[in-house]
Amino acid sequence: MTVMFLDSLEVREKTLLTPLKIAQRTTYLEWDSQPTLFKQYPHFCYRISLHDVSALSWLSHLRCITTLRTVSQKPYYQLNVPSAGNLHPLEIYVQVRNVSGVLCGIYHLDTLSEQLVLIQEIEDDGVESYMGITKRFNGFMVMMSIVPFRSSWKYGLRAWRYCYLDLGHQIGVLNATVRHFGLELTKMSHCDTDRLNLNMGMGDDEYITAVYGVGTVGNRPVKELKNAFMNVAPTNYTMKDIALAESIKNNPAYLDNHDVSQWSDYLGINRNRRSAREFFASNMNDRIMAELLELSVPKSLEVVAVVLQAHAMHLGMYRNGMFSMGGNYRDEVVQLLLGQRFIAGANMVFLIYAQKFTAHSHIEAGIYTQDIYLTCEHFGVGCSGIGAFYDDEGSKWSNNPLLYAVAVGGKTG
Ligand SMILES: Cc1cc2nc3c(=O)[nH]c(=O)nc-3n(C[C@H](O)[C@H](O)[C@H](O)COP(=O)(O)O)c2cc1C
Repeated sequence: MTVMFLDSLEVREKTLLTPLKIAQRTTYLEWDSQPTLFKQYPHFCYRISLHDVSALSWLSHLRCITTLRTVSQKPYYQLNVPSAGNLHPLEIYVQVRNVSGVLCGIYHLDTLSEQLVLIQEIEDDGVESYMGITKRFNGFMVMMSIVPFRSSWKYGLRAWRYCYLDLGHQIGVLNATVRHFGLELTKMSHCDTDRLNLNMGMGDDEYITAVYGVGTVGNRPVKELKNAFMNVAPTNYTMKDIALAESIKNNPAYLDNHDVSQWSDYLGINRNRRSAREFFASNMNDRIMAELLELSVPKSLEVVAVVLQAHAMHLGMYRNGMFSMGGNYRDEVVQLLLGQRFIAGANMVFLIYAQKFTAHSHIEAGIYTQDIYLTCEHFGVGCSGIGAFYDDEGSKWSNNPLLYAVAVGGKTG
């Protein structure tokens, strides 16, 4: 059988949103059939609470449940990280070595129970060898995986974009958490994802796509993992989209690092952040818009910020933080973003383009947007990532493809 593998440009072509496609949408989502959000290792695995050992407490801020409600008689979880459709197609694994009070091993970060679940003890072996590291890495090696079906269940192949944007948000949180705790992120220079995925027991429905170290390389040699691990399905059922799965599987892991802002109230803003569902433009100060325009933008991206409503600031386009063209673009921007009405109340919308439409540029758009989310929360203003837009209309303001948008505006009260 020939395996169909789409490169990122083919993915873009096949996932363009047009007014015709939106009008033809007939699918009705049966929420009862939503695949499970949290991977669960068997009950017999050894577990350690993130709150029982102080060296683990930073991990409890990486990915955590921040709101729990009941919707249609089912629990509805929201996390510290935003996610397209609140579908959360990610998991996190951590190798822990030489951390006082913790058995050396490879663990799954169980978001639901706030525990590390031991998958495999390690001694002189570990995941280091898949990253080209010949010595044991003391501390933590954080691995993030994508579970495509959680998102493709609703979005089909367009989930490709959302999985990588979500991953960028999660990497942004890792960066900010590590900084807040005075730890340091170590970049890997290489990752053999095929062997890593195989040995970590990832099946056909989950792929490790980003790896970071938090700690230091020691002096003692390390060997490859001795045994392949048990395979646990990340969802209660799955339906494989071969084109989506193969495209994610064949993308190299993301290993880069990008500077994010540092806030003294980080722990609070990380947990309190929510995506805005309405805006009150008069409650936003122009100074905050100026701050947002100053945020550092990853090199792969081009950001066009459109100021829609302000007290004294010029309305219009700002490129690379600088005013470039005056005008009232509110109706055009709302229409571009599929006419989502609440955006009409926003003060500004960031349109995030990239020179190249790749998995990596989507991840960087997510990292940058997470920085916007946390900055907004710090200043008490609302914000929402917007992944639904008419791709062709986005080309009006840049020659580059549009990857993501972010609406920002005043909160009530
Ligand atoms: C990649 C991505 C795309 C999103 N696209 C939209 C969108 O098009 N419209 C919208 O109203 N919200 C959008 N959101 C916000 C999500 O709906 C929101 O994150 C999710 O419902 C969880 O809520 P929370 O962020 O408050 O935790 C998006 C979020 C992400 C991360």
